[in-house]
Order: sequence, then C-alpha cells, then structure tokens
Amino acid sequence: MPTSHERLEQLRREIEEHDRRYYVEARPTISDAEYDALFRELRELEAAHPEWVTLDSPTQRVGGKATDGFAQVRHAVPMLSLDNLFAKDGLDGLKKWITSVEKLLPGEALEWLVEPKVDGLAVSLRYEDGRLATGATRGDGETGDDITENLRTIRAIPLHISGAPEVLEVRGEVYLPVAAFRKMCDEMRAAGEEPFANPRNAAAGSLKQLDPATVAKRPLAIVLYSPGECSAELPATQAEFLAWLAAFGFPVPRFQRLCSSAEEVYAAIQELDSVRDQFGFETDGAVIKLNQVALRERAGYTSRFPRWAKAWKYLSEQAETRIHSITVQVGRTGNLTPVAELEPVFLRGSTISRATLHNEDEIRRKDIRIGDTVIIEKAGEVIPAVVKVVLEKRPADAAPFDFLAHIHGKCPACGHAPRRDPEFAAWVCENPACPAQKTRRLVYFAKRNALDIEGLGGTVADALIERGLVDEPLDLYSLKLSTLGALNLGTDEEPRMFGEKNAAKLLEACQRARTMPLARWLHALAIPEVGEETAHDLAKFHDSLEAVADSQLLRDVVSLDRMRTEIEVASPRSKANKDRTELEKQQLATLQAGLIAEASEVGARLIASGFAAPSKRSGASPIDAVVAVGPVAAAATLDWFASEAGRKTLARLAELGISPKGGNKAAGDSPFAGKTVVLTGSLELMTRNEAQEKVRAAGGNVSSSVSKKTHFVVAGPGAGSKLEDAKKHNVPVLTEQEFLAMLGESAAPKKEDGLLF
Ligand code: IVH
Repeated sequence: MPTSHERLEQLRREIEEHDRRYYVEARPTISDAEYDALFRELRELEAAHPEWVTLDSPTQRVGGKATDGFAQVRHAVPMLSLDNLFAKDGLDGLKKWITSVEKLLPGEALEWLVEPKVDGLAVSLRYEDGRLATGATRGDGETGDDITENLRTIRAIPLHISGAPEVLEVRGEVYLPVAAFRKMCDEMRAAGEEPFANPRNAAAGSLKQLDPATVAKRPLAIVLYSPGECSAELPATQAEFLAWLAAFGFPVPRFQRLCSSAEEVYAAIQELDSVRDQFGFETDGAVIKLNQVALRERAGYTSRFPRWAKAWKYLSEQAETRIHSITVQVGRTGNLTPVAELEPVFLRGSTISRATLHNEDEIRRKDIRIGDTVIIEKAGEVIPAVVKVVLEKRPADAAPFDFLAHIHGKCPACGHAPRRDPEFAAWVCENPACPAQKTRRLVYFAKRNALDIEGLGGTVADALIERGLVDEPLDLYSLKLSTLGALNLGTDEEPRMFGEKNAAKLLEACQRARTMPLARWLHALAIPEVGEETAHDLAKFHDSLEAVADSQLLRDVVSLDRMRTEIEVASPRSKANKDRTELEKQQLATLQAGLIAEASEVGARLIASGFAAPSKRSGASPIDAVVAVGPVAAAATLDWFASEAGRKTLARLAELGISPKGGNKAAGDSPFAGKTVVLTGSLELMTRNEAQEKVRAAGGNVSSSVSKKTHFVVAGPGAGSKLEDAKKHNVPVLTEQEFLAMLGESAAPKKEDGLLF
C-alpha cells in the first residue's frame, strides 16, 4: 500500500502520461471518466495536504491570477526570425541560397531538414531543473512578454520533464487548431461577438489574455522546433534534436524530410504544399534548416537572421470573383471605409465574401468599379485585399467609382456630411452622435484588453443602440436583466432573443469592470489619440481619472512642445529672421533666452517626475526631454476631459461610484524603481503573478534569467540554478519576507488561490 505522498506522485505521473497521450499523440488510452477519476483523486489528496501542492502539479495549470499587464522577460539567447525565400523564385532561388551556404562550408556534405512553417505565435519555454519556469512571447526577439501562467494552461506543454538538463529552453509556435478555430468563431457569432479573423489572430489574442482562466478555455496547441539556452550539449542534428524533444513529451513537427541537395529540398517543399491542407494547423510555408548543428555556427548569421536556415513562402493564395456592390463602413473615429461585397469564393480554408478597399485613393489607383471581376488575395492579412481588376471581364456599363456620389454626400449611418481628411485620403464623419460611431465606441469599451465585457460584440452593440437602450457605454450600468434578456438581435419578422443567461453574464462582466484599473478605463473611454499603450503610460503617473483630467504633467508636455516651437521661431539666427535689424535680433535673443529658461524648467520638472527621460544626445538639455506621452496625445486627453462629453463622463462615473485607481507614484522612491528583479523557486507568500505585479508597480522589471545586470533575486523554496547564478554574479538574494518588507508590505499568508476546489 503506497503512502499518500507516494500515491500523489504516482497520480501526477499517470496524469502527465495520459495528458501526453491525449494532447501530444492524440491517442488516449483511457476513457474520459477514468481520467476524471484520477484527477479527482489527486485533487482530493492535495486538498487534504495543501503543503504538497507544487506548481508543476497537473491541478495547477490554471492556478495563476489575472493580471493587468505582462512582465518583460529577456531571452537568454535571442529569438531569431528567418529570412524568406519566395515560391516565385523557384528552384533557382533555392539553389542560389544553398550554394552560398556550401561556399561558407567547403568540403562538407550538407544535409537539410524541411519542416512545416506553422502559422501561430512564437514562444519560448524555459525549464529549470525539469520544471517549467518561464514562458514568453518572442517580442522583439530580445525581450518578450512573460506569459508563463497562460502557457501553463496548454495541456500539450509538459509542466515537468524528467531527465532534462538543468536549464533547457525550447522554442516553438502556439496555434489554435483549425477545427477549434471554426467552432470558436461560430460560438462567438452566436453570442453576438466579432469572431477572430484567422487562427493566428485567435492564438495571439488568446495568449495575450490577462486572465489565465480565459486562456484555459481556448483549446490552444503547440509545436516545438528549436533550442534556446541549454546547459547540456544538444543533439548533433536537427532531426535528432526533434526526436530528443519528442522523447521528453514535447509535440514536434510530424512532417520532416531530410534532404541532401537543392533538388531534394525543392521536392520536399512541393510535397509539403500538397499535404499541408490536411494538417490540423495553418501553415504559411516551409522552413529549411541545416541539419548539422555544429556547422550552423560556422555558417553564421547576418545582422538579423541565421545564414543556415530560411523560410520558404508559398504563393499567397489568390482567387477570382466579382464585386457586386461596394458598402461603406463607419469606424470608431468616424472613418468611412469602402468594402467590396463579393460573390463568395473559397480561399484556403475559408469562404470570402468581403474585401477591404482601404480608401478612395486606393480605389482610384486600381480603378476598381462595381461589377468588376477582381483577383483577391489572402496574404497573411487579416482581411483579404483586392489585388487587381481583370479588365477583360469588365462589363461595358461599369462606371468609375465616385466615392462621395456613392454615399450621396452623406455618412451612411447618420446622414451627416463627411469631411475629407487629406492626410489619410479618408472621408470622416465628424458627428459624435452618429449611431455607427456609438456602436463602435460601445464595442471598443467592451474589448478584451479594455474592460473585457464578454458578450458585447458588434451584433449586441448594434441592437442596443438601434433599440435606444444604450446611447453611450456608461448606459450599460442602467440596463435591467429582463430588458437585456429580451433584446432582439434578429429582425422584427425573425426575432432572436439575447436570453437571460447571456444577459446575466454581460451584466456581471459590467460589474467586474467597475473595479478594473485606471489603465483599462482610460483605454475603454476611447479618448482620441489614446490607445492601450498611452492609457498604460497615463495610468502609471496618475492615480485617478480626475488626476488625468487636471494633470499638470500633461499641461507641461503641451507647453514644453509649444515653447520648443516658439524657441525656434524666436531664434535670431534662423533663416526666417535673417533680414531683421540688429535691434530686433537683440530683442529676439532676449525673448528666446527667456523661453529657454522657462522650457528648461518645465523639462526638468517632467524629468524629475519620471514622466520624461533626459535625452541621450550629447549636449542635450532638459528642453529635449523624451516624454512618456507625446504632446498630441497629451493635448487630446486634456481637451477630451474638458469637453462636454468628458465632463459628463466624469460626472456619470462619480454618480455610479466608479473610481478606477492607477498610479505608482511611489515608484521613484522604491528600492526597485528601474531595477531588474528575477523571481525563482516556488513563492509561498504570493503568486508569481502577484510578485511580478509588485515589482512592476514599484517601477522595476522582471527578468527570467540572472546576469550581471540583475539587481535582485527573490528566492522561494526549491530555488535552483538561478541561486547559483546570483552567487556567481554577486547579485543580492532576497527572501519573500525581505522582498515584501522592502516594498513596505507585511507578509500576509498566501491566498489559497492555487487550489481548484
Ligand atoms: S525556426 C533560428 N521552425 O516562423 C530559427 N520557425 O519566419 C528560428 N516558425 O520566427 C525559427 N514554424 O515564429 C522555425 N518549423 C519552424 C517554424 C518556425 C514557424 C516561425 C517562427 C519564426 C518565423 C520565421
């Protein structure tokens, strides 16, 4: 009879093995009920012995807390991308590259491995002592987002591998299987949400979710194909490396062809093209890699890519169809975008019935007319585009397209006369009461990375505005469950009710949004010029909406910008002032000196507050300070809060008792401000996410690996190689208690957030 602890270990191993059989090999060997029974038993044992719960237990996949943003992770080895070869360059293009590598490696018999190029999101998984320690996006290749908690929810990713080197980083692609993607889109449509445009967007959108519980609901999958940092010697070839990964239980590309000449590589690429439609994932090409690892370093790298591998891009898929009409859509900011309504055609995986025409100039340039037969293309683009018109098939009566006449000079949604924005060749409806804009603002308010009100997509928003139930986003807080449940999403002839269950969910999400942080509210309010990034920057330096509305920092940014221009205008040495009298020049010099003094003071104030950084240019002064939020966004923000709409919104929020919190003003004083911190071991007083949040809130960065640039290591029990690295680099190591004490917090016992019962 095993002891309870032995039984627990045994259950974990069995579940891991069944996860692998199910999610990696797609060959389960037990029934769902049997699996559930094992899982239940493990949960019960862990409930009885919470001290035995470790992060790599299968019960802990969805243990992480929702966060407000991701910490940054520096990749120990940069995540490179690949240079492309294009199908249109054919075998010759391929030969040229292969010969160039042969010249770099004279006398070597080169082997090539051809793999599918999976169209998903590149990620890096870092295992330390066999445990999944960090998972990150590629980011800019040097630093990515720490999405460990989200990646842990992917069942094909082992949380624990046996017999692995102390440090093992593996890289690959997270994707949403095509079938799951279709199902998810159907469900989103049924719930009145805007479906994802393609599986890649769905995978990226899912992994960037701030709440791991939401990610866990998406059936994401992964395939691994390249190494990052590894403390042991890697297998000698790519083919062996993939087999080595597979033996640890990682999913690897099934299609692999080992080739020894350009002709063989070319044949493998063609073979892949003919079978790739049958894969469960989307591929946008092939990847050709030098098989022998030792030779790779000798072949070397260009400034951006390895010389020893290439991505082969298949021809982007094109199809011919006819434009039967052109509609005009009104965007959130009032932009009028022409859209070609097409006779539906099937194009690699989906039916296309619309294509964007971008703007009036684009239509004129390509001379696109209603009735035209056109070639459309899906070139990794979200929305297909019209490549060109098939002139031979143009109907005799097709007239050149006149944008303004087509919309009768009026915004199709509200009838207001639009204005042409010369800079963007776009027509814009400036009527703030335009219902199309109202719908967009509502959808924008509810977006995942804004206030995340699930269920409030285009269809529902349209119906709410059209039926007069909502005029602006905050009206959502006056909706009654019964009214919302009875909302008709269909037509009068064919009604389709939203339903009480969906309505209850939507209202709950609205309630949850009340306490969301300032950054999300600033983003959700759709202030012109304020996107997600700017909203985050504003929220860092202000603790409430009122503080943003009345921000000295923003006023300083605007006045510094104005003074910079005035300083230029007042320059006695400028070309414009060259014909002035000496006296006038002297007066200008005095004026300019005054302006410089004033601007320096404002610049210095911005730098001292942390809202601007000193310019790194040599000889730069505080006037050249680099601001966190630029003058255009700063002015737009102040203007919006001072406008009637802004003032009304603030008053309304106060009435509703909503006062989102932001700010980490203390950051400047915190011992972690501007410092790089590494977290390691299993934290006991807080979750890893909470610890990351704390570092970020204190103005610091979180990194996954210890180097001489690390300022602190926070270590919980079971910390391994990172502790040794800290010693090696003389980096101070803090216990969790010390870490909290430095933040001025006391060590409250850890919330039992990891337990799933
Ligand atoms: S190898 C240094 N193999 O395509 C080698 N990349 O265009 C790095 N990708 O950034 C990449 N499938 O995100 C490799 N079998 C595969 C791949 C693959 C998809 C992605 C990856 C990479 C991009 C390059």
